[in-house]
Amino acid sequence: MTGKIFLIAGARPNFMKIAPLIKELNETNIEFKIIHTGQHYDYNMSKIFFNDLGIPEPDIHLNIGSASQAVQTAKIMIEFEKVVLKEKPLLVVVVGDVNSTLPCSLVAKKLNIKIAQVESGLRSFDQKMPEEINRILTDQISDFLFTSEYSAEVNLKKEGIDQNKIFFVGNIMIDCLLMNLKKTKRLNTYKRYGLEKKKYALITIHRPSNVDTQENLNKIIKILNFTQEKIRIFFPIHPRTKKNLERYKLEDKLKKLNIILSEPIGYLEFLNLMENSKMVLTDSGGIQEEASYLKIPVLTLRENTERPITIEKGTNEMVGNNLDKIKKYVNEILLKKYKQGQDIEKWDGNTAKRIIDTIKEKIF
Ligand code: UD1
Repeated sequence: MTGKIFLIAGARPNFMKIAPLIKELNETNIEFKIIHTGQHYDYNMSKIFFNDLGIPEPDIHLNIGSASQAVQTAKIMIEFEKVVLKEKPLLVVVVGDVNSTLPCSLVAKKLNIKIAQVESGLRSFDQKMPEEINRILTDQISDFLFTSEYSAEVNLKKEGIDQNKIFFVGNIMIDCLLMNLKKTKRLNTYKRYGLEKKKYALITIHRPSNVDTQENLNKIIKILNFTQEKIRIFFPIHPRTKKNLERYKLEDKLKKLNIILSEPIGYLEFLNLMENSKMVLTDSGGIQEEASYLKIPVLTLRENTERPITIEKGTNEMVGNNLDKIKKYVNEILLKKYKQGQDIEKWDGNTAKRIIDTIKEKIF
């Protein structure tokens, strides 16, 4: 069959998931187009990733920008429908769980176009997270559900998804990491920031549950205060976090701590900072996986994870905003008593190939 594929990307964690698919598709004669919704638009939240990952400019840009949950979702639907009606793709590939994923899936499905969901079936079981809603609804209407870990398949089957639609292909983020590890090793980002190898903690915080209320953001600052007494900290600040630090007048409190602050960092430099760090403290989804792969201890400042394999086999522990738990694990890490982590099944750099092979076999 002939026809083109749409690859949807809109927010920072999407770009490293489409890069390996683009590389793999370039080895075939399948036509594809990159659609950027515009959910993220700052240079260091979007364009820098295209440069770092060598992804071509998006073929179509929806220019949606920031808005409330409903407005952002609705605007993407309106703009994406026009594109789909004009271009008539054979398949829409969505990745991850951000607000760009669900509206593009809904539009495609209602126009009878097949959907492939990469990173399907992950569940935090916390419907207060917009990502959880995006995940559940997208999975329900997808035709090809590509999973990264075993728990995902269990979740999908419980939700009544037909086994024939589920394909355990591994973790696409790790494909991207392996594609770029050599390049990132050549950088000296950590040294440029005055950091010493394995002598600093890398911190990222941006979840609404941690930064949207004054009370919780204050707890984060207390955690940073404790950690900076134990180890040097590098903290690139996400725009949502920055906005809330300003709103609650907490910037001065943060700046008084012995922490290196920076703007958000591009993919290659971030990987360099992560690989050379002693530990990572984060509330990101993907970083739990990348740190686990690299066997760097990672403490996740959330109550739950949709990626349980990173706890079972990886180097991840859930600490929420519980200072006692953080103290315990930080001390274990510094005393080299923390768990080492093991290799994880199919996190091997061949996920994109498995996905494109399946798509070729089933559709083209
Ligand atoms: C989104 C994803 C989240 C992901 C994160 C990575 C959803 C529901 N959430 O959260 O899963 O972990 O991206 O970054 O899709 N902003 C800027 N510049 C930008 C983009 C955003 O300043 O380029 C600011 C705006 O004030 C905006 C806020 O950040 O309102 C939040 O952006 P949004 O895309 O709504 O959610 P994230 O918190 O980035």
